[in-house]
Order: sequence, then structure tokens, then C-alpha cells
Amino acid sequence: MKQIFPSEKTLEPIDFYDRTRTSRTDRPWLMLNMIASIDGSTHISGTSGGLGGPSDQKVLATLRSLADVILVGSGTVRAENYGVPRIPDNESGYRRAARGQSTRPQLAVISGSGNLDPSIPMFDIDQEEASLPLIYTTKEGAENLFENFENQAEIVIFDSGQVDMTHVLEDLHKRGASVVLGEGGPSLNHQLTEAQLVDELCLTISPILIGGTDNGIASGPVLSNPNKFQLAGLATQDGFLFCNYLAE
Ligand SMILES: NC(=O)c1ccc[n+]([C@@H]2O[C@H](COP(=O)([O-])OP(=O)(O)OC[C@H]3O[C@@H](n4cnc5c(N)ncnc54)[C@H](OP(=O)(O)O)[C@@H]3O)[C@@H](O)[C@H]2O)c1
Repeated sequence: MKQIFPSEKTLEPIDFYDRTRTSRTDRPWLMLNMIASIDGSTHISGTSGGLGGPSDQKVLATLRSLADVILVGSGTVRAENYGVPRIPDNESGYRRAARGQSTRPQLAVISGSGNLDPSIPMFDIDQEEASLPLIYTTKEGAENLFENFENQAEIVIFDSGQVDMTHVLEDLHKRGASVVLGEGGPSLNHQLTEAQLVDELCLTISPILIGGTDNGIASGPVLSNPNKFQLAGLATQDGFLFCNYLAE
């Protein structure tokens, strides 16, 4: 890819996204990765696949290689038939090992209803490479999950009717996570941004215009406090723009 900001040079995604990520005292560093069309849509007919391309897929795999945990909403898991994260190349694997991270990041899903299918590929984990996926849910959701998931996921129950994202991040911190990668979808992102939890935003702009409304990266009611970011890096490849923002 070609970096345009802060300086102009050609580099690999792993070097473009290379920075120190320091967890807070009570929670991990939270990066958010999303792809959107020129006009801000995050899906085409219900999935994000039509927005991407090989260079964006490499960025996705690179960002995953930086994370201890990938955090995702169940709407996305269902829509995208989530799989086990792939580490893009040997160099990313070596850097993971040097940071003391497991071979692959652990997955964590948020689901109030427990409406998840255990045959989705992400639940078929080699436990030598990563810990079992975590499912954060409510009491009601847990009833469905305990019936269907045996030795395929660890279920964490919130007594209130909702899963609180601040508490999810605190729990991940207690489990040893330093860097968490949020992968959407928009309604989960809305909660993360409403709670001002996002430290870094990796936004890919795809060279396509879709139309439609309310498909933005954090769709939902207007936030109580807008999240402000500074542009830390900008790169391009194959017409895609890769924007790297840090929270102010
Ligand atoms: N362009 C991109 O980069 C990108 C990335 C990700 C997703 N997407 C697209 O976005 C769409 C899915 O996004 P979405 O916003 O509809 O769904 P989502 O954010 O992935 O998941 C929403 C679901 O997560 C659960 N959930 C979220 N917060 C919760 C809480 N506090 N307590 C309990 N449960 C909670 C609920 O699950 P239950 O229904 O199980 O209770 C809710 O229905 C898909 O079309 C996908 O393709 C695009």
C-alpha cells in the first residue's frame, strides 16, 4: 500500500498499522475496524463482502493479527457466517509470538437472545491455537446457549436484561487481553462509541457508492457526546482509502 500521511512511502499493512497500543488500568485498548462505501454504507444487501477486495482483506487479516480478542455483535456473526481468524503471513505470526500472543486471537460475541448457531465456523476452534470463543449474554440468552453449546464456547452471563460493554471490556482485561479489535456491526459500535470506549478507528473507504440510509458505522440515535478523533495515518491501494484515527 502507499502511505499518504503522515509521510509518503510504500509499505506493508503491518507497518502502516504498527504502533504502541497500551491498555488502560481497567480495560484493554479498543480498536474498531470497519469498511464503508464512499457514502458511508456498511453493507450491500445484508453483508459487507461486496464492499471489500483483496487489499482490504489483507488489512482485515493484519488488524486481526494485532488483537488478543476480536469482539463482534451476534447480528454480524449471523449475517457473515463468521469464521476462525486467519493470520495473513509469517511476519505477522512472528510478531504475534514476539508479543507473547496466542497463535490466533480469541473471539467474543455479544448476544442478548442467545440466538446463535453452533455450526457457524467460528465455533470450530483448535484450542491449541486460541481459547474457546466467549459469548456475553443475558440470563434469557444463556438458557438457549447452554442447550446448544457444549465445549464450544464459554458463556458469560449478565444478570440485567442488557450486556454492558464497559463491563465486557473490564472482563476481557481481567482475562489478560491488552488489545481488543471490534468488528461491528453498527449497533454494537453505537454502544461502544456512546460509552466513549474506542481508542482507535481503522476505517476503510471502498470506492463504491450505494445509496440508502441509516447504514453508517455506528448507526443508532445521535450520540450524547460525539467521539473526536485525530488522523494518525492515511494509505491507499486499489482505490481503497485506509484511514487510521486515534481518539482525542
Ligand atoms: N462494513 C463493515 O465493516 C461491517 C462490519 C460488521 C458488520 N457489518 C454489517 O452490519 C450488519 C450487522 O450489524 P448490526 O448492527 O445489525 O448487528 P451487530 O451490531 O453485529 O449485532 C447486534 C446484535 O448484537 C447483540 N447485542 C448488541 N449489543 C447488545 C447488548 N448490549 N446486550 C445484548 N445483546 C446485544 C444483539 O444480539 P441478539 O439479537 O442475539 O440478542 C443484537 O441484535 C450486517 O449487515 C453486517 O454485514 C458491516
